[in-house]
Amino acid sequence: MSTTTSQDEQAEARRGAFSGRRVFILAAIGSAVGLGNIWRFPYVAYENGGGAFMLPYLVALLTAGIPFLLVEYALGHKYRGSAPLSFARLSRRTEGLGWWQVGICFMIAVYYAAVIAWALSYTVFSFTQAWGEDPDAFFFGDYLRAGDPGVTLEFVPGVLVPLAVVWVALVAVMALGVSRGVGATSVIFIPVLIVAFAALVVQALTLPGAAQGLDALFAPDWSTLADPAVWAAAYGQIFFSLSIGFGIMITYSSYVHRRTDMSGSALVVGLSNSGFELLAGIGVFAALGFMAQASGVAVGEVATSGIGLAFIAFPTIVNEAPAGAVIGVLFFASLVMAGFTSLVSVLEVVISAVRDKFETSRVRATLVVTIPCALISLIGFSTTSGIYVLDIVDHFINRFGILLVAVVSMVVIAWGVRALPRLRDHLNRDGSVPVRGWWIALVSVVTPLALAFILVRELLAVIEEPYGGYPQWMLVVFGWLAAALVAVAGFAIARVPWRPETSLDVGDRPENDTTARSQP
Ligand code: PHE
Repeated sequence: MSTTTSQDEQAEARRGAFSGRRVFILAAIGSAVGLGNIWRFPYVAYENGGGAFMLPYLVALLTAGIPFLLVEYALGHKYRGSAPLSFARLSRRTEGLGWWQVGICFMIAVYYAAVIAWALSYTVFSFTQAWGEDPDAFFFGDYLRAGDPGVTLEFVPGVLVPLAVVWVALVAVMALGVSRGVGATSVIFIPVLIVAFAALVVQALTLPGAAQGLDALFAPDWSTLADPAVWAAAYGQIFFSLSIGFGIMITYSSYVHRRTDMSGSALVVGLSNSGFELLAGIGVFAALGFMAQASGVAVGEVATSGIGLAFIAFPTIVNEAPAGAVIGVLFFASLVMAGFTSLVSVLEVVISAVRDKFETSRVRATLVVTIPCALISLIGFSTTSGIYVLDIVDHFINRFGILLVAVVSMVVIAWGVRALPRLRDHLNRDGSVPVRGWWIALVSVVTPLALAFILVRELLAVIEEPYGGYPQWMLVVFGWLAAALVAVAGFAIARVPWRPETSLDVGDRPENDTTARSQP
């Protein structure tokens, strides 16, 4: 056995690894398929030209989504580390980018868990339609007990309990490690999710009015193609939906055995995620078509996304539809499963980074990360002010966290350290999809430009009109400060030296490239 192989085995024993390519692909799909697919995509497509939106969407997938996915796969797989370690191995000075991504993931985990907790409650509520006749009043009043925007420490037991359940489940999964925890969760949840969601779609399609819903979603408005906002929406959806730019895919690929076809995997993951998105569009708009018909209004009047779609429109549909309880359970359970596997992926970014840097045991790293995260989550989001904080953090982290770190890291990788040729060669060693000059052109020019374009638009929009009509101090604290803090904290942690036994040369030394691996 060669030294490399045994080094690999040691590293795997220490850090954990996926048992094979299939598990990696399922975990990557588990991260990509999340709330964004179910409650974001259908409405974004509807609002931005319906059927015509498929064109910018596909262009965004092929020119930025899959190419960017390939960058992250190559980074993690070649340098075999968490986001900070992979960046440090790429070039010492870029480590801070990895920690910035870790910070963003920590923030996302804090609030994403709350939404999953709500969906968990609503899965149970579906059986009896516990939300009654007025789901809107129920959600904000009876369930969240939302008061005025502000911050309170009044706990809402109805949210506290499911949120605690979500965190206990998370701690257990994360403590079990890469293969038995992270990998196994996706291996179980993703097939179940696909079956449950497909059943929901079939059920929704049989509802009266479903066809009108689909007409509304797919009716193409070709004039939208001339609107830059539509293109920004397409690229934005692709970046968010594929979970690229914030370290998840770097982390997951570092757990994949060497000599694995990574470029083929990127194609499978990218297309599966979009396939699920399309399926979600069909299911959601069939159900909205029914809702519109039942209340005698146009589909446009009931179409929404996000919290409004999941916690207000869907309960209304469940109230009115034949076998509504089945629809409710399938829908909310799908949200829980899709969200949980995404949540596991963001937490893994943080845990993996802590483990690489401080060499702690899996269980200890899990506790060090998840306990503070769970406490912040429980204190922040199971109080009567949780919904406002959540809305603000979500808005700012999505824009000035994820988008900004994505564009900065892309520019640094492509232009700062000029790593693309190295990464391309790595991908081509075992990849089934040949990666050539077109890829370098796409990721060094098209991707950063698309990201920068969206970012500038978003920036101008918030400057013009402060978000959501919240008090200024709340926007400053939970929006700007939170987004800035993760970046600053990231670059500060990067100054902590690695332990002497952590080699930063992995990946670039020829002996670590296992082309000649079976020298006895
Ligand atoms: N891809 C996820 C989605 O579509 C985005 C995401 C991943 C968000 C992980 C948070 C955490 O919902």
